Amino acid sequence: CGIVGYIGTQDTTEILLQGLEKLEYRGYDSAGIAELNDEGVHVTKVKGRIAALRSEVEKKDIEATMGIGHTRWATHGAPSFENAHPHQSASGRFTIVHNGVIENYEEVQREYLANVEMNSETDTEIIVQLVENLHNEMGDVQEAFRKAISLLKGSYAVGIIDAENPDVIYVAKNKSPLLVGLGEGFNVVSSDSLAMLKVTDQFVELEDKEIVLVRRNEVEIQKLDGTQVNREPFTAELDASDIEKGTYPHFMLKEIDEQPFVIRKIIQEYQNENDEIKLDPDVRQAMMDCDRVYIIACGTSYHAGLIGKQFIEKLAKVPVEVHVASEFSYNMPLLSEKPLFVYISQSGETADSRAVLVETKAKGHPALTITNVPGSTLSREADYTLHLHAGPEIAVASTKAYTAQMAVLAILAVDTAKAKGIELEFNPMKELGIAANAMEALCDQKEELEQIAADYLSTTRNCFFIGRSQDYYVGLEGALKLKEISYIQAEGFAGGELKHGTIALIEEGTPVVALATQANVNYSIRGNVKEVAARGAKPCVISMKGLDQENDAFVIPQVHELLTPLVSVVPMQLISYYAALHRDCDVDKPRNLAKSVTVE
Ligand code: G6P
Repeated sequence: CGIVGYIGTQDTTEILLQGLEKLEYRGYDSAGIAELNDEGVHVTKVKGRIAALRSEVEKKDIEATMGIGHTRWATHGAPSFENAHPHQSASGRFTIVHNGVIENYEEVQREYLANVEMNSETDTEIIVQLVENLHNEMGDVQEAFRKAISLLKGSYAVGIIDAENPDVIYVAKNKSPLLVGLGEGFNVVSSDSLAMLKVTDQFVELEDKEIVLVRRNEVEIQKLDGTQVNREPFTAELDASDIEKGTYPHFMLKEIDEQPFVIRKIIQEYQNENDEIKLDPDVRQAMMDCDRVYIIACGTSYHAGLIGKQFIEKLAKVPVEVHVASEFSYNMPLLSEKPLFVYISQSGETADSRAVLVETKAKGHPALTITNVPGSTLSREADYTLHLHAGPEIAVASTKAYTAQMAVLAILAVDTAKAKGIELEFNPMKELGIAANAMEALCDQKEELEQIAADYLSTTRNCFFIGRSQDYYVGLEGALKLKEISYIQAEGFAGGELKHGTIALIEEGTPVVALATQANVNYSIRGNVKEVAARGAKPCVISMKGLDQENDAFVIPQVHELLTPLVSVVPMQLISYYAALHRDCDVDKPRNLAKSVTVE
């Protein structure tokens, strides 16, 4: 979910709507805004996208200079009009938008709100009802808000408005991200700086459990005990034009095409004038000091981590474990003596990863975050950050961040190897440059890939991806892309493993995408292709030049064997894209997903 707020002198409607449009990557099940003017609070909400909200709001033509807004990714309660934010207290005096999950909402409801009738199934409504109840008892809104915040457990970023006071938005956060943006005669609130870049680039970070009173000409930050906090703003560096689609029909296609440029940008950013790797010396030291790297990530970033393990182990000879963040705490491995935790996250906001970061930091273990958003929570809270330099990634399905993650991991691995005095023949910058050229060549072969999508995927129910060694991990990512945006049931398997069960699902015509980019396993994966073909499957082999055979569906240019994942993923991204188009799916905003999941 994402929230925004504005208090100033301009008409708030457009500012809130534009802010929410930029936050849609955080969820788009339902959306709403609340605006306050002389006539009172006007709440407009819809089940559906911001576009639907916009048309509702435009019908009403409300003039107001303060308000709050929300775009939702459902956790408690199905996506519906009732469950859409903003929510209001029983009397209608207080209105709230909230991102996060209140863990003790049942307890709070039982203890403080037993007599209050709820209008929704959300944990959010509890907060606003609680504020009203406490206000009835205490008579002071600020105090009621402070008390309410002190009672809540879980994650939240909230903005509350009081119908009887048009001069302040009450704001607080815990675990969920929230920033206050500063302007001349106005101030804003937003889940991330991107959403408000059109109105300001000056932002103040908030810390957990601070109470913030956002007024037109002033932002007052207090600790829970009432002490005032002074915090300097920082300048958000993104260029708002980076987040426009331009002439592309979808952000995803634009972001796929940007990949060669991102890789070249990474080469530039991580190289000094003597063509040596330029990397934060503290990161180098942390890699040198550790006896084992624990990579923690989710989704696509996890898949990049699997490749990163290969780089770090093969080049730098440091053992690496890769863990899915949400499972890590339950199955915490026996840690080595000097672990280094590496968090890979495009957004830097994923709550599952952050939960592990909090836990491992509390145990005193050092943390490095590899992210596309340097000011993000995971970046701020880790000891070190490596930036992906991929530019904003807007499409929910990650493409350029994934290839950027692998490129940065390769550079990190080589840097560590060099620091350890390991002689390498592998020149990462040169090889990444070659990979970038190969990616560019692939981006020019869209028609061919569109045809493959049409031939193999236009009507199928399911699709399997197989590969061995690194190709296996890329297959996992290929399958994830396909299912995320086309809703075709897709799974990736190690080439040797399909026959141990899943082969039972192969029917006449089932597409099996097989990757063949690694010389040492080319023979074996070809064997697996024959196995499935013998049972009626329709194999779609994506091979690398030099390893290709007759009847391969697509051949990628030759690149260094270690870096094939950066290149072989591109045809899979494009095939998924066209499969989704053929099936009339919403490519940039697939159903049920959100780009940045800020709840555990
Ligand atoms: C969400 C997105 C995935 C993404 C994952 C991790 O689930 O839908 O596409 O890979 O989060 O996101 P992160 O920002 O931490 O890389």
